[in-house]
Amino acid sequence: MIDLSLADFLALPDSEKVHHIRDYAILYAQQFSREDLDAYCRLADTCREVHKTEQGRTAMAGILRQRMALNFFVQPSSRTFMSFNTAQAYLGMNRMSVRDANISSIAKGESLIDSLRTFISYVDMVVMRHSEDHAAAVAFWTSMKAHRRLVIDGEERPVPIVSGGSGSRQHPTQALLDIYTLQKSLAEIGGIDGKTIMLVGDLKRGRTVRSLSYLMKNYRDVTVIFAAPERYQMEDDILEFLEQAGVRWRKATSISEGIESADAIYMTRIQDEYDKVLPGTHVPASRDFTFTLEHLAAMKSTACLLHPLPKRDEIEEGVDYVDDPRVMYWRQERNGMWMRVAIIAKLFKVAHLITDFSMEPEG
Ligand code: ASP
Ligand code: CP
Repeated sequence: MIDLSLADFLALPDSEKVHHIRDYAILYAQQFSREDLDAYCRLADTCREVHKTEQGRTAMAGILRQRMALNFFVQPSSRTFMSFNTAQAYLGMNRMSVRDANISSIAKGESLIDSLRTFISYVDMVVMRHSEDHAAAVAFWTSMKAHRRLVIDGEERPVPIVSGGSGSRQHPTQALLDIYTLQKSLAEIGGIDGKTIMLVGDLKRGRTVRSLSYLMKNYRDVTVIFAAPERYQMEDDILEFLEQAGVRWRKATSISEGIESADAIYMTRIQDEYDKVLPGTHVPASRDFTFTLEHLAAMKSTACLLHPLPKRDEIEEGVDYVDDPRVMYWRQERNGMWMRVAIIAKLFKVAHLITDFSMEPEG
C-alpha cells in the first residue's frame, strides 16, 4: 500500500505525504479542506446533540463496540488523552493506554517502529503523543506496511493512526477543535472568513499554533497576527505557507498592538520543556505577552479568547473566573471532546449512523 521506504517517506515534504495519508490517518493539518472542516464541525455538533438523550447515548455506545483503541501517550497530556478516552467510550470502543515508555518493552531496547508494529497487531486505532516530530509519520508508515488490515465500510484499510501531538510541529486534532471553537464563537458575525486572528506566545515551538496556521488557508480574507517576542516568533516555513496560500499576516510586539483589531486571540504557553529549566520552575511570560483584564476590556465585544491549555501565567488569574462569554478556553477543551467523537466516527466511516439517528423522529 506504500512503496516507499521509511526514509524516503519521511524525506517527502508534508504536502506530498498527505497524498499517501489520504483519509487513513490524521497527522497534519494540511490534510483538511474547507469542506472537511465544515463537515467535522457539523458532525461534532450532531454528536453533542445526539448524546443529550438516553436513546442517543445508547445508540452511540453501540457503534464501535467491537473496536479496540490504544492511546499511546508517552509525552505529558491531560485533555487530549482524556478527551480521546471519553470520545472512544461514547462510541463504545474498548480502550488501552501506554503512558510511559519505561513500562513498555521500549525500555528493553525495542525500537519505536517495532513497538508500533506490535500495537497495530492488537488494536484497531492508535492515538499517539510523542516528543519526536516524525513519530506519528513513522506510525503511519508502519501501519501501511504491516499486514493487518481492517475492513471499514467494505474497504480494507490500515489501522488508523491519529497524532495527538508530535514533537513541536503538529497537533492536528487540536487545530480541528480550535476551528470548531472559532466557528462557534464567531458564528453570529459570519464565522471565520474575513476575521483577524491573533496568535500569542511561543509560536516557534508551539505545535498548536503551527497546525492552526495551516488551517487558515481554508478561510477567505483572513489576517493572522503573530504576537511574540522575536525569540519565540513563528518560523519562516509557516509564513511562507501563508504567503503562498494568500493569507495576510503580520507580526506584533505586544498583545496591546493587536487587541483592538483581533476577532480572536489565541494565547499559548512558553514551551520551556525545550529549554533547560530547573525542575518545578518555568520561564515566565513577559508582561507584553500576558493577557490581562485590561486586554479583556479592550477586546472587541464580539471577539473570543482561546488557549489550547495548559496555561500558566500568560493569562492573568482574574480572567478565568470573570463572567464573560468571550472567554472561551474552558468551553474549547469540552469542544475538543465532541470534535474527537467526530474524528473517530469519520475514521471508521460511521458518521452517518449518528447523523441518521439525529434525524429519526422522536417517539
Ligand atoms: N497542550 C498543547 C500541546 O500539547 C499546548 C501546550 O502544551 O502548551 O501542544
Ligand atoms: N491542549 C492539549 O493538547 O492539552 P494536553 O497537553 O493537556 O493534552
